[in-house]
Amino acid sequence: MNQHLHKEGLCVVDFGSQYTHLIARKLREHQIYCECVSPVEQQPQFGYKVSGVILSGGPDSVAQGGARVLPPWVMSLQVPVLGICYGMQLLVEYFGGEVGSGQQREYGATQIASVDNTELSLGHGITVWKGFKHPHQVWMSHGDHIITLPQGFVVVARSARAIAACMGEHGRVIGLQYHPEVEHTHRGADFLAYFARQVCEIASEWQPSSMLAALRADLTDQLNEDDNLGRILVACSGGVDSTVTLVLLTQIFGKQRVHGVFVNTGLLRIHDLERMEILGTELDVSLEVIPAEDVFYQRLKEQADPEAKRRIIGATFIDVFSDYSQSHQDAYGWLAQGTLYSDVIESGGGGANPRLIKTHHNVGGLPEVVPFKILEPLRALFKDEVRQLGQELGIPHAMLWQHPFPGPGLGVRIVGAVDAVKVKLLQQADKIYIDYLIEHQLYDQIWQAFCVLLPVKSVGVMGDRRTYEWVVSLRAITSTDAMTAQVADISIKHLSQVAERIVAAVSGINRVLYDVTTKPPATIEWE
Ligand code: XMP
Repeated sequence: MNQHLHKEGLCVVDFGSQYTHLIARKLREHQIYCECVSPVEQQPQFGYKVSGVILSGGPDSVAQGGARVLPPWVMSLQVPVLGICYGMQLLVEYFGGEVGSGQQREYGATQIASVDNTELSLGHGITVWKGFKHPHQVWMSHGDHIITLPQGFVVVARSARAIAACMGEHGRVIGLQYHPEVEHTHRGADFLAYFARQVCEIASEWQPSSMLAALRADLTDQLNEDDNLGRILVACSGGVDSTVTLVLLTQIFGKQRVHGVFVNTGLLRIHDLERMEILGTELDVSLEVIPAEDVFYQRLKEQADPEAKRRIIGATFIDVFSDYSQSHQDAYGWLAQGTLYSDVIESGGGGANPRLIKTHHNVGGLPEVVPFKILEPLRALFKDEVRQLGQELGIPHAMLWQHPFPGPGLGVRIVGAVDAVKVKLLQQADKIYIDYLIEHQLYDQIWQAFCVLLPVKSVGVMGDRRTYEWVVSLRAITSTDAMTAQVADISIKHLSQVAERIVAAVSGINRVLYDVTTKPPATIEWE
């Protein structure tokens, strides 16, 4: 709960839909504050005035036993309620209508059209609803459907097979069979904003720029309650989230009280190490690097299997961090980490059942049992909000807008066995590539770019001398969420200049390739 983050907003009850986080995301983009809660929470405590509730979709069927039910507190709030898909079916059942299974299933892009005269009952000039007059594209994903509406409810729109939108209780209860939060629904996000502004009458604007003051107030309250816990240890990975956490806490509580630790796994890029130095000097934070390269290299020795490498890297990170924390548990009461709202939702913490979507092992992940109280100051924020906050805190642009970097680091970018020599080669090649992209204003157009060292040697000729050296592949992709990726359209001229620089500067590499495979079928990383 974030007491000071905002005064008024919506609450999303998460019934387990894969799209729930998108509802919160779209509302925040429209400056409407919103948090997700689980339907199993008996009496959630909100740190703000809840002016409306959205019931998300979910995998359950109201027609079958064991389905999650509408929590009693929703209706006792006496605020407008919007039900999406399963949420709509719950509302229909609650008010005495009937929901059935089978036959009317719809999946994917679907056309709907408004039913005459319902537009009037919603008020004139509301373009989102007026849009229903014509065939209107929405995203459907339902097996159940409405058979009979409750008394007093009206059909607002239909698809060819089902009731697509309905309304009752004088417009204060709205049901949508489709998903307005999904891109494929035309003007769906506008509808969510319409619900918040017109139906719930939320006037205030959620301003990410007011975050800093709000977080400061929240954290000061939280730490005052447990004042005896003393100093704060921040686990840093070099990524955006933990960096913002460290700088934020330092600016609030001072570097005498806040100390960052960063495990040097030996699998980092040159940029990562340089950035850690900038943090320590330019941003005046207290930061300690734990040198652990040797133990990582030693445990990875001759391990070529990608999964075994990932497991070793993850376990070694935890061992190193555990050793550090055990030996410092007298000095610190708090352990801070850069958990974001998307992590909270993805791991089920903001919503229905704990359901882990992320299967990647993040090497920034911490041991499950730590002898500290956990502090997660960014828990209510999305990535772009964290970047804005970082900007206000004075963190350099390059650090905030860096491409994603996998937890196991260069360990999964050296195909096959990893050793210190190969890491050095890859670090040099990668720096040349990334610096080139930055220099030619290509870096910010690309979602992720990096070099991969292949376990292949090839013959070359340099001067009059025959060479037999390693091969690297350049990778550059565009994406929105890393679930799919396209190959970045970098010209051959640029690619060959990068190749020339790498081969000239890195002794040990004599050939450079460009990976032109999309995801799927390939993944972004090579291992
Ligand atoms: P793939 O290779 O699965 O990568 O297409 C998708 C995105 O996830 C990143 N990635 C990871 N991130 N820990 C992480 O924190 C990991 O183990 C990991 N593996 C891949 C990858 O860089 C890309 O952005």
